[in-house]
Amino acid sequence: MEPPTIGSMEPQPAPDAAARSSGREAPPSPPRRRFLRFLVGFSAASTLGMIIAPIVGFLIPPRTQGSGGGRVVAGTLEDIPANTGKVVAMGSAPVIVVNTEAGVKAYSAVCTHLGCIVGFDTTVRHIVCPCHDGHFNPASGAVLSGPPPAPLPPIAVALEDDEIVLVPSGG
Ligand code: FES
Repeated sequence: MEPPTIGSMEPQPAPDAAARSSGREAPPSPPRRRFLRFLVGFSAASTLGMIIAPIVGFLIPPRTQGSGGGRVVAGTLEDIPANTGKVVAMGSAPVIVVNTEAGVKAYSAVCTHLGCIVGFDTTVRHIVCPCHDGHFNPASGAVLSGPPPAPLPPIAVALEDDEIVLVPSGG
């Protein structure tokens, strides 16, 4: 028996080329695969947003009221509409302001687990820590799930016209 020679080996066309040469089109990507790609992309984008949004909110300083003894204007009700939240700086401390069905609330944005900055997840309407998926109740600051050992400490908040004003303790 003779070993095959190079000249006797015919190159095999790629599957797509074979389909094209035979007049058939390559099958389209199945809808399920496209949907899974969309889900993975959406999940990655929303996770990135959850991490970046609180940091950006913290870095952009809010207005402070000159005569208010360190009171901080966190924004207006238009800036933080119902079922949303925003992280602002109160001095050097990050604070999360949330507009809930129980009213506008504010808490320290430092997670009670290992100190990451929390954000507001509009999908589940919870305050969420992106580090270890700790969830807090936006109406009370209580821990709903995850590793945080204690609720988020509350910050006094007042509505003046449509402005949301954070009031430091003792102020
Ligand atoms: S640091 Fe927030 S859950 Fe771990």
